[in-house]
Amino acid sequence: MDLYEYQARELFAAHGVPVLPGIVVTTADEAFDAAVKLLEISSLVVVKAQVKTGGRGKAGGVKIATTPEKARESAQAILGMEIKGHPVHRVLIAAGADIAEEYYFSVLLDRSNRRYLAMCAKEGGMEIEQLAKENPDALAKVPVDPTVGIDREKAEEILAAARFAPDTAAKIVPVLAQLWNVYTKEDATLVEVNPLVLTPEGEIIALDGKVTLDDNSRFRHEHHADLVDKRSENPLEAKAKALGLNYVKLDHGQVGIIGNGAGLVMSTLDVVAYAGEKQGVGPANFLDIGGGADATVMANGLDVILHDPDVRSVFVNVFGGITACDQVAAGIVQALEILGEKATKPIVVRLDGNNVEEGRRILQEAQHHLVITVETMDGAAAKAAELAAQ
Ligand SMILES: Nc1ncnc2c1ncn2[C@@H]1O[C@H](COP(=O)(O)OP(=O)(O)O)[C@@H](O)[C@H]1O
Ligand SMILES: [Mg+2]
Repeated sequence: MDLYEYQARELFAAHGVPVLPGIVVTTADEAFDAAVKLLEISSLVVVKAQVKTGGRGKAGGVKIATTPEKARESAQAILGMEIKGHPVHRVLIAAGADIAEEYYFSVLLDRSNRRYLAMCAKEGGMEIEQLAKENPDALAKVPVDPTVGIDREKAEEILAAARFAPDTAAKIVPVLAQLWNVYTKEDATLVEVNPLVLTPEGEIIALDGKVTLDDNSRFRHEHHADLVDKRSENPLEAKAKALGLNYVKLDHGQVGIIGNGAGLVMSTLDVVAYAGEKQGVGPANFLDIGGGADATVMANGLDVILHDPDVRSVFVNVFGGITACDQVAAGIVQALEILGEKATKPIVVRLDGNNVEEGRRILQEAQHHLVITVETMDGAAAKAAELAAQ
């Protein structure tokens, strides 16, 4: 899960990373009130769009204000904006920093090398992709051993690699250690601060924050559930999650997919994409009902998929192993009974493996008008694509 900047700042603060006070608001009048408060402690405030994408500054989503009236005006303008397709529903009114220098720092999961990777640069502020392209030498990349983390020594190594002068480095070292605490204690897969700034008084402050939390660790962090943004969550994904289903909605596609086992579902997406290429149709989602799925799981899965307005046909692709095909077939029949009139889209079923004869017999006997059985995976994919294209 990606966090908003204001949420990242809260985690930073909880782990001792220096941040400036800020108040998140949803209306221009609240922005006015927040600015009144913050202007008591700061000579200026910054009105910042809260969207889960970078480059807000360049898009006009970060504006400086020196009066509450100006903050209200900026908030008014920013709240109606869309930044890279993300509508702005909230703005952060942040105390303004006096900036002497802007740096870049991040730590992330480096899957291919089975390590963490710290990145750091003396030139922050601009987007990292741009920095990496224009000035790759300036961007230090230092592997981090997961069992050691970023201790004092590692922080010094990272800062030296980014060619910081020793006195500046000494000021930043503790902040990197605190950011490492955010990364490891919160089970993040990315912590990025851009810019990390030096003030004329010699203080180091995180002015922006980007954090991605590992959803697999949710069970260890009760408070992470509060960070989920219900408004931006896909409603179908939210429903699937509540039902305990492994479901991912895809952006383009008209063929709903249900399969058992992540590998089979992935290859089902491939064959459907291939089969539908010429007609311009493709898979609409990923849904793995797992091994040992019973009728209820199948009903829940079909329920979610049939409610997807993009879906025009469904492809159920099951290879019976632990889950026997007759159970799956019974599940489909029961699911259609439960759904009744709500089921309106054709369902192409391909069963193979454990107890396949019995499974096919059950489907045949039920004679449901929406169910079409096809024996092969490619054949079923072609049929589902053809139905979706009609
Ligand atoms: N609290 C602040 N005080 C002063 N300047 C700020 C503050 N927050 C952001 N800025 C300035 O605005 C720029 C862009 O803001 P940032 O939060 O990094 O958004 P983004 O990365 O999405 O463009 C920063 O590089 C910094 O120069
Ligand atoms: Mg930034």
